[in-house]
Amino acid sequence: KQTEPLKPSHRKVQLPKEVEELARVVGKICQELGFKGYLVGGVVRDILMGRRIWDLDFVVEGDGIKVAERFAQHYRVNVHPFPEFGTAHLKVGDFKIEFATTRRETYPHPGAYPVVEPASLKEDLFRRDFTINAMAISVMEEDFGTLIDYFGGLRDLKDKLIRILHPLSFVEDPVRILRALRFAGRFDFKLSKSTEKAMLNALSMHLLKQASRGRLLKELTLAFREEKLLDILKLYRQYKVLEELIDGFQWSQDLELKLEKLKEVVSWHKIEFPDKKLEYGWLYLVILLEKVKGEEFLRDMSAPAWVRELYRTYKEQAKEVIRKLHQAKKPSEVYLTLKGFSEPFYLLLAIEESLRPKIVLYMEKLSKLKVDVSRFSGLKGKELGKAIENEKLRLMDETFTLT
Ligand code: CTP
Repeated sequence: KQTEPLKPSHRKVQLPKEVEELARVVGKICQELGFKGYLVGGVVRDILMGRRIWDLDFVVEGDGIKVAERFAQHYRVNVHPFPEFGTAHLKVGDFKIEFATTRRETYPHPGAYPVVEPASLKEDLFRRDFTINAMAISVMEEDFGTLIDYFGGLRDLKDKLIRILHPLSFVEDPVRILRALRFAGRFDFKLSKSTEKAMLNALSMHLLKQASRGRLLKELTLAFREEKLLDILKLYRQYKVLEELIDGFQWSQDLELKLEKLKEVVSWHKIEFPDKKLEYGWLYLVILLEKVKGEEFLRDMSAPAWVRELYRTYKEQAKEVIRKLHQAKKPSEVYLTLKGFSEPFYLLLAIEESLRPKIVLYMEKLSKLKVDVSRFSGLKGKELGKAIENEKLRLMDETFTLT
């Protein structure tokens, strides 16, 4: 593939209406300034796949920041330029838009932050990670909507393949190992043969241990936000990437099974409590870290405080709580065992199927039970609290049965 001349294929692409409107404005501004403008990267891929678009990336052969400033004036929005990168960010409606000057990137050493210089569109596309992410669409009036595909991205999209653009891609930027698996999991794509070979080679060189930990973990965090996280984790298992990233980490049948059960629990919770908007990915991470000393890793991942707290509670108390739950014969015993823990903790406990009826009963009924306090009008403070609690326990044992 690498020896083929870099001739782009040309075909017209229909842009979604709102995107087309914005892109035409960019085209006009570029025309006025004597530049050329393109939509580029993930947005092109997503348009071709018919996916919803929220992020728009434009590149400009010329000066991206200048175009961004005029574009911001046109829509009367604020613009945030980053002159050291030649980029600018802004928002129009729900669209997050980035402008950049087309650039080449060279990596001084594997995993380093790249050195950036202005360059042609072709070079800008060539610096990118995978063929499906290395296409552009012209927004200039004379050829508006023309797909520019130097590397066979459209073909790979149809063949459902992740393919790097050159054999050293993973060596230059090991973060791409994680990105490749994230996209493969998200879209249910495979790695091309040569890409898989290059990845295995990069992994055998332990480049994930050498690359910037900050960049790697930032990328990993993105994976934990993905809808198809479990598929991505299976790929991580296949290619042994977590072993490189987490000290002492080992896969086991038991761990994989737990993650699958967690997926069932999460699906249930999403349906039963659609308004909770929990970041479920963290729950998977807590399970993954169960057998290692994961506190530091969570800190490095910038996990929120509730996740670190959950991790501690799970490691220190889950066993005992599970034992008590198994033994509980009455709803009140379930209630007393589970009271005071957090919702994410209950979800982790529900990984064990035989406990689910008790946990569901607690979450849906016992935790919400209200008693009529008017009967205790003579009582105050601690005594009142105690009376209410006792009444609750009595009521729940009378109302509910354990199946
Ligand atoms: N890119 C790259 N190498 C990286 C990160 C990004 O080549 N390590 C390029 C890709 O062309 C990518 C584009 O920069 O499409 C934008 O990056 P990002 O927003 O991270 O990727 P998206 O493809 O938009 O991913 P997502 O759909 O997850 O937003």
